[in-house]
Amino acid sequence: MTEQRVNCVSHPLIDHHLALLRGAATSSSDFRRSAKMLATLLAFSATHDLTTEETLVRTPLTETRGKILAQRVGLVPVLRAGLLMVDPLLDLIPAAEVWHLGIFRDESTAQPVHYYDKLPADRPVDAALILDPMLATGGTVTMVVDRLRAWGVPSITICLLLSAPEGIEAVRRHCPDVAVYTCAVDERLNDLKYIVPGLGDAGDRGFNTVRTDS
Ligand code: URA
Repeated sequence: MTEQRVNCVSHPLIDHHLALLRGAATSSSDFRRSAKMLATLLAFSATHDLTTEETLVRTPLTETRGKILAQRVGLVPVLRAGLLMVDPLLDLIPAAEVWHLGIFRDESTAQPVHYYDKLPADRPVDAALILDPMLATGGTVTMVVDRLRAWGVPSITICLLLSAPEGIEAVRRHCPDVAVYTCAVDERLNDLKYIVPGLGDAGDRGFNTVRTDS
């Protein structure tokens, strides 16, 4: 059995932005900014295995050898919270393709419901980075892994900001060969399947749709 590659990325800047992200008083725009910072910091590790090829570079002074990315990289944000992580990844990998998948969690059953998918039938990317800020039960992300495998993607990496142990365990059982990068693993899920201590609903907080009337 392949060992699960779960990487909890540790850095003082990650601690700093995670504390801001968790804070209930953090505004939606500050939440988005910290989510972007975290995605950038996480990407540094999560893209470690991308392959490069040599190229000849003409500097203002001479010619030298450089390396450029050699793979077709696909960013796969899970709508809608995954959108918060797209721009920082595109800044780092401007040639990346963005393939959106829409999966929402049925609040009554906590089961993932697949509602948007425009992946083509052929020509899979070489490496896919799944972007989803929150790993709760693992139902959504394992569904995405299955979909990418069915497309034929050879290398899949899951990029998360916050994870629950239950989700990590679900991924470990479902796809032990897939690399997982997260900024933190929290204590547990509550009865509503929210991560505790967590940060609340990442999509609502990032897109300023938190309901205050209930
Ligand atoms: N999704 C969220 O946005 N928050 C959680 O705590 C769990 C899933």
